[in-house]
Parts: sequence; C-alpha cells; structure tokens
Amino acid sequence: MQCGMKMLWVLAALVVLAECGQNYPQKSCMFGKATVADGEVAMSVPEKCMSLVCQAGTVVEKMTGEINDTGCCLDGDNIIYPPSFRAPHCIPVTCTNGSWVPENFIDPCCGRCEIYGYSHITTLDGFRYDWHGFCNYTLVTLAAVDNTSSAAVFAEMTRVGPRATVFGSVTFHNDPHTIINVTRDADNKVSEQIDINGESMTVPRTGAHVVYSSAGRHNVLAFWQKDCLVLLGHTLITLRYCPSHMDIWIPRELSGDVDGICGHFNYNATDDFTAATGKILPLEPFPVNFPEMHWRAPDQRIAPCNDPMITTSICNGTTGDKCLLSGEALQDFQRACMDSLTRLSPQQPRVVDYYLAPCVADLSLASQRDVNFTVSLSAFIVEVLKMYRNITVQHYEDHRVTPVLMDPSMSSLRTTSPLPASRSLRTTTTLPQRCPPGSPPRSPSKRTSPAQSSS
Ligand SMILES: *[C@@H]1O[C@H](CO)[C@@H](O)[C@H](O)[C@H]1NC(C)=O
Ligand SMILES: *[C@@H]1O[C@H](CO)[C@@H](O)[C@H](O)[C@H]1NC(C)=O
Ligand SMILES: *[C@@H]1O[C@H](CO)[C@@H](O)[C@H](O)[C@H]1NC(C)=O
Ligand SMILES: *[C@@H]1O[C@H](CO)[C@@H](O)[C@H](O)[C@H]1NC(C)=O
Ligand SMILES: *[C@@H]1O[C@H](CO)[C@@H](O)[C@H](O)[C@H]1NC(C)=O
Ligand SMILES: *[C@@H]1O[C@H](CO)[C@@H](O)[C@H](O)[C@H]1NC(C)=O
Ligand SMILES: *[C@@H]1O[C@H](CO)[C@@H](O)[C@H](O)[C@H]1NC(C)=O
Ligand SMILES: *[C@@H]1O[C@H](CO)[C@@H](O)[C@H](O)[C@H]1NC(C)=O
Ligand SMILES: *[C@@H]1O[C@H](CO)[C@@H](O)[C@H](O)[C@H]1NC(C)=O
Repeated sequence: MQCGMKMLWVLAALVVLAECGQNYPQKSCMFGKATVADGEVAMSVPEKCMSLVCQAGTVVEKMTGEINDTGCCLDGDNIIYPPSFRAPHCIPVTCTNGSWVPENFIDPCCGRCEIYGYSHITTLDGFRYDWHGFCNYTLVTLAAVDNTSSAAVFAEMTRVGPRATVFGSVTFHNDPHTIINVTRDADNKVSEQIDINGESMTVPRTGAHVVYSSAGRHNVLAFWQKDCLVLLGHTLITLRYCPSHMDIWIPRELSGDVDGICGHFNYNATDDFTAATGKILPLEPFPVNFPEMHWRAPDQRIAPCNDPMITTSICNGTTGDKCLLSGEALQDFQRACMDSLTRLSPQQPRVVDYYLAPCVADLSLASQRDVNFTVSLSAFIVEVLKMYRNITVQHYEDHRVTPVLMDPSMSSLRTTSPLPASRSLRTTTTLPQRCPPGSPPRSPSKRTSPAQSSS
C-alpha cells in the first residue's frame, strides 16, 4: 500500500514537472558572484555532509547520509558521498571520516591484464603472449564499441636491447578533459608526480585522492600501493603502474565493451586478437603483427611507428619466438628458473608454472646480450623475477640466491592448471562460471578477502 502511494506521488510529480517544464524555463541561482544552473551544486561542505543546491532559483541545503552524519567524501564532480560509501572499483575505495581509503582487495570477477618483464602480456581473458614492438599501443579502449567514449589506456614500449622491450610511459585517458601520464625515473622508480593535462600533481603516499589540475577536480582517484601507483577512472578502469609490471582491471559490467592489446574482454580468450575493425585474428604466443597493425595508438613519438607499412616486430612476418635458444642452454635456463621459482614460492606450484616460460624467455634474451648480463645466472634470475613482482633479495650465497619477500598479490594469480613450459598456446581460465558476463553485481557480503580467494 505504501508502495502504491509512493507510485502515485511519483506520477503526480512527473505530471507537475512536465507541465512546469513547458511553461517556465529552468531558473538558475546567484551564489556569491557566480551563477549556478538549476539542479547544480553551488557549494559542498563534505565535513558536515551538506551541500548547497540550486532549486528553481533558490539555493537550498541538502544533507547526505544519516541525520547528523559528518565526514562525507567528494568525487571529482563534487558529488557528495556518505560515510562508509564503498565505490565499486576493482580495488574498492570507501569513504572513511572524510577521506577515500582503498581496500587491500581486488574483486576476483574483474578481468586483469598484465604486462611485465620483457613484454609478456596476459590478456583480460587470460591469453598469454610476448610482444617486442617499440611503438605506442592501445592497451584497452572503450571506443571500439562506444565511439563517444574516449576512455582508454595507452603504453609506449621501449627497447632495452636489439630485441627486448619493456613498457615505458603510460597514458590514461579518463575522459576528453582528463589525460594523465605516469612515468618512471632513471632508477626505474615510479615518479611521485603524475602529469595531468600537461600539469604536474604529486600523489600523497597515503589515502586515495581526487586528481586535480588548475582546471579543477577530475573524476579519477589516485593512490599508492607500495611502490606502485594506482589510478581509478570514472568508467571503472583501474590501472596499477609498478616499476616493471603493470595491471589493468576491468569490471564485469564492461564485459564485451573493451578492446585493445589486452584483448576483447568477455571471459573467453578465443577472440582476444580482435582488431579495431572487429575482425578476429588467430591467437599466437608470438604474434606477427596483431598489436602492430591493429592497435597502434593515434600518437607516436618514433617515426617508423607512424608508417602503417612498417612492422617493428622482431618476427617481421614470421611466427615463433626468434629469441628462444635451443638445446642445452635452454635446458639450463629451464632448470635454473624452476629452481629459483620453486624456492621463491615453495607452496605455490601455480606461481612457478605461471612464471617459468617468461623467465626462460627473458634469460634467452639476456644471454644473447640483448640486456646487460653482468651478474651470475642465479643472481640475474632474481633480477628478472624482481621485474615481475616486488621481490626483495636478502643475500646471495655461493651464487645461490637466498630470498625472499614477496608481493602478496603474486599469490592471487588466477591460473587454474599447470602451464606447460613449452611455448604452446598458453590460455588460462578466468572464473567463467563464477563471474558470467552481465550477471548482476554480487552483494558485498559475498565478497571474499584476497587471502580466502587465493586458496
Ligand atoms: C543531531 O544533533 C543535534 C544537535 O547536536 C541533537 O540535538 C540531535 O539529537 C541529533 N540527532 C540524532 C538523530 O542524533
Ligand atoms: C576524523 O578526521 C578529523 C579531521 O580530519 C580528525 O580530527 C578526527 O580525529 C578523525 N576521526 C577519527 C575517528 O579518525
Ligand atoms: C559512431 O557510431 C555511430 C553509430 O554506431 C556511427 O553512425 C558514427 O558514424 C560513428 N562515428 C564515428 C566518428 O565513427
Ligand atoms: C650495457 O652496458 C653498457 C655499459 O654500462 C652500455 O654502454 C650499453 O648501452 C648497455 N647495453 C644495453 C643493451 O643496455
Ligand atoms: C602526456 O599527456 C599530454 C596531454 O596532457 C600529451 O600531450 C603528451 O604527449 C603526454 N606525454 C607522454 C610522454 O605521454
Ligand atoms: C568462446 O568463444 C568461442 C567462439 O565464439 C566459442 O566457440 C566457445 O564455446 C566459447 N567458450 C566458452 C567457454 O564460452
Ligand atoms: C600514446 O598515445 C596516446 C593516445 O594517442 C597519447 O595520448 C600518448 O601521449 C602517447 N604516448 C607517447 C609516449 O607517445
Ligand atoms: C622485414 O622484412 C622485409 C622484407 O621481408 C625487409 O625488407 C625488412 O628489412 C625486414 N625488417 C626488419 C625490421 O627486419
Ligand atoms: C617491496 O616490498 C617490501 C616489503 O613488503 C616493501 O618494504 C618495499 O617498499 C616494496 N618496494 C620495493 C621497491 O622494494
């Protein structure tokens, strides 16, 4: 009955609105020296959970949350959120006493694209490949489906030797008025400062902060997770940019809408090599030109990257790994990588399997002098593994490495079956049963902690 009453009230209000809308233009308000449009916020006082809103020519007070609430939070559009409000990013942030506080949790239903080491890529749907072109690429974009959306992430790959590449600066397009570049310094540390529309902003070490420039606030939250910088975009794209490793998480709600070298996101790796035109190409662990011919970014700094006919891939029209050694050397690397990885993650065969092939590939590159190789093999392996994740080496002993402190996120890898070390198609499954595309969001109570989800 109450519900019926409410419905009547809503209908009546709509009729009134429709009638008024025809006869009177919306009235704006004067607030100080400024004019505020009808329905817009003139001022927010988040500490008191209060905002001043223009309503039909009058500025009125509007409260948020429970009565007498204090410590509300603002987003980049100056929308006010009550205490305990949990923003549904892949790394959720909660409004706590006036500040956004990121959780130490990653929604397991989000797709995760990883790029690490000498350009090993795992797509959002779990297909793994290596790519050593040196242009600027579209990692993810919403534009292929919704051409009005400019939300995208781009990365420039740079050479570290004749063949190997690592990612360099990353550009985060949140909306047409918010373009953020993140970079690393000469020591490979992530810069404290981000570049927002050409201006610089320092991201404080604690808490999540709305990104701002001289033009005002932008709808992006930035925070640090140890030595990694995290950006949460308003389309719910999450970027984590680390010294030699980066992740992009995409929520299930965007399943079907995201394309790029991180793959066509739909919890099915089969169509991950989808071109911007929609054409599906065959999957390749060492693609010839999928990233190059289909996902070069619009802006390039290096001349050959502006020529669509030139491929910067070392494969240059042939498939297969051009850098992998054969025979004895390869067996040595397999053994050495297996040994180090097992000691790094003794209880975690999945982690060992996940990193074995990349480790062997990177040692092959290094041993061919693509990368400077000035330490012993076992020490070098640790250098390589450090690039994959934050691993702290305590000391070297008789050329045997005594590690180790690991990044806890390493244990949340989503491989479900051991991967062969051979370079066959390395597809991993990514929770298709638990996280079907398009199903309604789960209630927060069903979420598991990272510790639970990794077991
Ligand atoms: C809100 O605060 C006022 C003034 O401090 C107090 O009188 C009132 O009881 C409070 N209301 C609630 C519901 O706590
Ligand atoms: C909330 O923040 C205010 C100022 O930022 C601080 O004075 C107060 O102690 C904080 N309260 C809690 C419970 O942390
Ligand atoms: C955007 O998409 C619409 C409908 O799909 C199409 O008509 C239009 O030409 C597209 N615009 C551009 C610039 O591609
Ligand atoms: C290797 O190191 C030398 C000297 O430190 C340097 O000149 C050279 O450019 C480096 N090569 C690569 C591929 O980094
Ligand atoms: C950084 O962003 C600006 C836009 O503000 C862009 O013009 C510039 O090319 C970017 N720089 C790099 C190194 O990506
Ligand atoms: C993935 O997509 C392919 C091609 O569209 C389809 O044949 C296959 O059944 C799909 N797999 C799953 C698990 O849905
Ligand atoms: C990469 O491309 C994007 C989009 O075109 C651009 O914003 C960014 O500045 C480019 N980065 C570099 C290093 O050229
Ligand atoms: C790629 O192959 C073409 C012809 O097969 C050759 O002219 C060109 O130099 C090659 N490019 C590279 C980077 O090896
Ligand atoms: C790596 O992890 C350790 C231990 O968790 C932490 O103290 C350190 O700040 C992290 N970053 C680097 C660059 O070692």
